[in-house]
Amino acid sequence: MTVSLTIVQCLTEYANNPLGIDVSRPRLFWRLESSDRSAAQAFYQIMVASSQELLEQGVADRWDSGRVASDQSIHIAYAGETLRSEQTYYWKVRVWDTHGEASAWSQTAYWSMGLLSRADWKAKWIGRKSEKGVDMQPPPYLRKSFQLTKAVKRAFVYATALGLYDLRLNGSRIGALFAPGWTDYETRVQVQAYEITDQLTVGENVFGAILGDGWYAGTVGFLGENVYGERPFLLLQARVEYFDGTSERIVSDSSWQAAKGAILYSDLIKGEAYDARLEPTGWDQSGYQAEVAWEVPDVRTGYNGLLVGTVEPPVRIMQVLKPVSFRRTEAGTFIYDMGQNMVGWTELTVSGVAGHQVTVSHAEMLNPDGSLYLDNLRVAVQQDHYVLKGIGEERYEPHFTFHGFRYVELIGYPGEPDLATIAGKVVHSDMAETGRLETNDSMVNRLHANITWGQRGNFLSVPTDCPQRDERLGWTGDAQIFARTAAYNMNVSRFFSKYMQDILDCQQPSGAFTDVAPDAGWIRHKMWNANLNWFAPDNAGWGDAGVIIPWTLYVMYGDTRILETNYKAMADWVNYLRDNSEDYVRPDYANYGDWLSIDADTPKEVLATAYFAYSTQLLAKIAGVLGRKDDQIQYETLFAAIAQAFRDAFVGSDGRIHGETQAVYVLSLQFNLLTDEQNKLAIEYLTTDIRTRGDRLSTGFLGVGYLLPALTEHRKLDVAYTLLTQEEFPSWMYSIKHGATTIWERWDGWTEHKGFQTPSMNSFNHYSLGSVGEWMFRYMAGIEADPAAPGFKHTIIRPRPGGSLDRVKASYDSLYGTIEVAWHLSASSSVFRIEVTIPVNSTATIYVPGRVYAIDGVKGTSGSWEIEGCQPLESTEDESCFKLGAGRYIFESDLLAVQASV
Ligand code: BGC
Repeated sequence: MTVSLTIVQCLTEYANNPLGIDVSRPRLFWRLESSDRSAAQAFYQIMVASSQELLEQGVADRWDSGRVASDQSIHIAYAGETLRSEQTYYWKVRVWDTHGEASAWSQTAYWSMGLLSRADWKAKWIGRKSEKGVDMQPPPYLRKSFQLTKAVKRAFVYATALGLYDLRLNGSRIGALFAPGWTDYETRVQVQAYEITDQLTVGENVFGAILGDGWYAGTVGFLGENVYGERPFLLLQARVEYFDGTSERIVSDSSWQAAKGAILYSDLIKGEAYDARLEPTGWDQSGYQAEVAWEVPDVRTGYNGLLVGTVEPPVRIMQVLKPVSFRRTEAGTFIYDMGQNMVGWTELTVSGVAGHQVTVSHAEMLNPDGSLYLDNLRVAVQQDHYVLKGIGEERYEPHFTFHGFRYVELIGYPGEPDLATIAGKVVHSDMAETGRLETNDSMVNRLHANITWGQRGNFLSVPTDCPQRDERLGWTGDAQIFARTAAYNMNVSRFFSKYMQDILDCQQPSGAFTDVAPDAGWIRHKMWNANLNWFAPDNAGWGDAGVIIPWTLYVMYGDTRILETNYKAMADWVNYLRDNSEDYVRPDYANYGDWLSIDADTPKEVLATAYFAYSTQLLAKIAGVLGRKDDQIQYETLFAAIAQAFRDAFVGSDGRIHGETQAVYVLSLQFNLLTDEQNKLAIEYLTTDIRTRGDRLSTGFLGVGYLLPALTEHRKLDVAYTLLTQEEFPSWMYSIKHGATTIWERWDGWTEHKGFQTPSMNSFNHYSLGSVGEWMFRYMAGIEADPAAPGFKHTIIRPRPGGSLDRVKASYDSLYGTIEVAWHLSASSSVFRIEVTIPVNSTATIYVPGRVYAIDGVKGTSGSWEIEGCQPLESTEDESCFKLGAGRYIFESDLLAVQASV
């Protein structure tokens, strides 16, 4: 028997060899490959050791799982001895297939623990006193020169800031952008760990750090500055281990030096000013001869928040875009078109005389006269100012700010620029792109691209509503409606796990989840006001993110720990809703309704009651997953009571639902609130409304996510496709027809008749209305996670061909491997052909539309095939159904049957 399984990727806590974690039982993952059909794991053995050498010798001094009978290859919790501060743990795994054949051992993977207790920290928070009378403070530069006398065996540095830090060692940058990320700093700050063994030398070494105000002290949302603190501080501790067994520490303290440098100011929302003449050249390297006066840093005490390991993925420059065109304006400025609405900044190349200033201004759109459309930025200033030092070719990019833009204007550029003068740096949290989707319709492809660009533009440490105006907040409603789409597009496991922590940190003692997380100041300042319908801690569809996001992570990644960790918080939320409703009906105060719907106002109490029911039903399922039987029954009963109350209060005897908007019908259908009879009526009323509007939608942020799923599941696939490809206003394709490269905040952000919407709220990069991406993967391509075997342990493949699409190719990188679907409908005949790939150690059920007549090229009829890995299941008139093991399969079917029925 040949060995069938190869282990190709070992992850710890979803990450590749993470450093400085603080999870007491880290979860281990591996991915398997095989060329055999139905290949699966039957046993595993994990070994964990305190050094690579021991592990190689087969000595598992930390944990040996022994040979465990299990097909589980993701989320195996470490169960060895207690993990200790600053230790590195090396691990490997081997598996046995279902025939009992053992694989080779995997490559060694590792993780390291951070500083687990406060007592482990010897470092002090250091910063620089504010300059008097200066409105926007210059970012502090901090440095420490230190000598090493012996060769280094291994060295790590742990760093964080209240604010942002840009860390350098011996002249090179270390670590992520916008570190330590945004958290509610009063409660916690994330610590990053980096290995620096190779960067250290015997002799003089220098740590340098520049601190930015960031979310901590800079402008946040529209509440102004200093939401968490007045000015930034750094905390850094390095540990250097020598070959002779000794070690030493370098810590931030009053022995460091502080000064201001070339950055005059740098604010997330107000841009940056930089005077290159002031650069303290060589300040972060050995041999530096100080030209400026360095001071003793300001040491701060009394930070009582938690210092936690970093959960979120690092923010990085993820791509670089070249402009597609540029032109000179009458005023002598130059306006560039990047060809894509993007988020990050512009790198500028310039030569000129010392002291000359160039301003780089950014906007998403152009006014009709060709100038930058800046009105929608509110008080944000998307401008960076660069003052030349006047030596040769100078390159500049800003430090602690980012902009949302497609157009770039160079003001004061000396000489003639060209297309190579600027480059667009695309910056976001580094999440692997997991979903790919392509069809024969270029506009549908563009829609998918626009949705993905919306995610790139708004997933920067936290999921934000928009990246350009003075807002950029972690609105929970936007995040929840987009969460499943986001999870198809990219691996958001760590990103959303961290965001759940932000949501929890904001949860009110009452149990209410807030509409924004992390808190942008208004919780602490009690800025919400029930009469204002604004900043409320319990908005329907917003607060529910606290239940929907963990559930989404469970379904997409099989993560039960996120359910366990958040269980109490979720139950508190549902209990809060229950205690603040009357006879199970939620009041109509304080919620945003179906935000930015179009000529269709969904009554707030209807929407709020529907979401109350939905969260309760999810909680019942979650209780079931966690084996909390009593809770499950309790919340199932509660759900039934809410649904009954919903019907009594809002559904007429003719089946019409109060408000009669598309949103009330789709939410009622998708949240299981109606009787079978009422479902039939609801889908009729829904489609009639769509038809009377000329085949148009009217849903806002919340309704839109369920619109095409509701139509598809209730046999109105044709209507779903009509809406998807509708090009008239309001529709997705309307924006694309008019040049959109991202998803707009509003259906009517710009129209032919009215031009731009009111500038006070008109973002061109909001992902919420892009939640249709979920439908495209789940229904159009047909790749769906089965909640009964989550994380794509069992995948449901159920493509829904329709509309004018004749070809859809999609893939999704699950934790088990890549799931592929490529279907094709031949125009001349009714032949439907689908190729699918199911990853090793997972299974699938495929529903092929029509009657399958060939599998892998072998003709036959149901029951007559003997195809390895493929087992016929009971089929219906519309669909042929098979159970699949891992492998690649091709099905061909005759579609006439299904065409007749839709
Ligand atoms: C944000 C939205 C958010 C909404 C709440 C807006 O200002 O941009 O995305 O969900 O407020 O209604």
